[in-house]
Amino acid sequence: MKALIFHGPGERAWEQTPDPTIVDPTDAIVRIDSSTICGTDLHILKGDVPEVTPGTVLGHEAVGTIVEVGDSVTTFEEGDRVLVSCITSCGRCSYCREGRYGLCTGGGGWIFGHLIDGLQAEYARVPFADTSLYKVPEELSDEQVLFLADILPTAYEVGVLNGNVKPGDSVAVVGAGPIGLATILTAKLYTPSMIIAIDLADSRLEKAIEFGADLTISSARQDALETVKELTGGAGVDLAVEAVGVPETFELCTELIRPGGRVANVGVHGHPATLHLETLWIRDVTITTGLVDTNTTPQLLRLIADGRLDATAFATHRFPLDETMAAYDTFADAAGTNALKVVLEAEPVEDHPVEKEAALAGHSA
Ligand SMILES: NC(=O)c1ccc[n+]([C@@H]2O[C@H](COP(=O)([O-])OP(=O)(O)OC[C@H]3O[C@@H](n4cnc5c(N)ncnc54)[C@H](O)[C@@H]3O)[C@@H](O)[C@H]2O)c1
Ligand SMILES: [Zn+2]
Ligand SMILES: [Zn+2]
Repeated sequence: MKALIFHGPGERAWEQTPDPTIVDPTDAIVRIDSSTICGTDLHILKGDVPEVTPGTVLGHEAVGTIVEVGDSVTTFEEGDRVLVSCITSCGRCSYCREGRYGLCTGGGGWIFGHLIDGLQAEYARVPFADTSLYKVPEELSDEQVLFLADILPTAYEVGVLNGNVKPGDSVAVVGAGPIGLATILTAKLYTPSMIIAIDLADSRLEKAIEFGADLTISSARQDALETVKELTGGAGVDLAVEAVGVPETFELCTELIRPGGRVANVGVHGHPATLHLETLWIRDVTITTGLVDTNTTPQLLRLIADGRLDATAFATHRFPLDETMAAYDTFADAAGTNALKVVLEAEPVEDHPVEKEAALAGHSA
């Protein structure tokens, strides 16, 4: 098969690599139908995630079709259309028993395109298939469910649920990239009174309005703290969600909230940020952090199936799977291309007689 392979910092190639095979009886092999690229993949390419070894297939988001299952897989079979999520669950460790799959100590957690081969490929091996895959309802398209693989549960769990959004709350979302926008989209499920999006880029602020923000603040031209104070009668917001991952935006979030308010940090931080306890100790604030668990995926999938949540607007660009190299260039130049998510689309199996036969006959080499 072909796949997008990491060859060390700054080096990637779409090239031939051996087909995945069943290693453990709990594995499934999935033919990738749609995949996408995450900001984390760009971090890996910069060398920020040293556990990713050269030779690893990148990618941790996909929708695909099962072509083979291991002997002990009981809930899925060949031909099932499935969501392959960024988080895998062993289903047995103490964290998985609590639904905290992101912290799995039994070999799951974030492993795709990190510790094992990932999903920007023609085929992938999925460990712990029974407890990690989700069946996709027939009536839903790949694009309707693809963003459930990462950005929707991340924003919902680490931003909205950790931030405890309640009806009537005022919410500031700092950073209007895919994660910030998904936070805006899923915060609206709780009917906040006001969502304020804050970003440096005007193009991202325009997107924030499309995704449901009520107001925007350009931190390039405006004083975000002053403006938020004006908008909230001097008090500050109930919740500020950090969706950038740099010290200044984390510190800004702690200033934007009212006494008794909450900061939900979603951003991945590479540098220490200052926690100003000398001003915060008296303000009864709550600060949360988190890695996505994806335990809300079934709930979000129901909302999409029932037409209550629509994430298709994240797909700004589409590429055939074998043009993944060009898709990376487009995604990496988001400032120039206005890309949010680029969808990598495999050729439909019906248009591909050889693959159709292989899919029907079980996975072939
Ligand atoms: N906790 C988790 O489980 C988890 C999972 C996925 C991603 N993340 C993290 O979430 C963060 C956001 O992800 P993304 O894909 O949306 O990233 P992104 O880079 O696409 O978006 C970040 C946005 O922040 C804006 N920005 C940058 N500096 C700013 C500043 N000083 N003030 C205001 N806005 C600023 C940018 O213009 C951009 O629109 C990243 O740090 C990412 O690594 C966390
Ligand atoms: Zn990701
Ligand atoms: Zn586990």
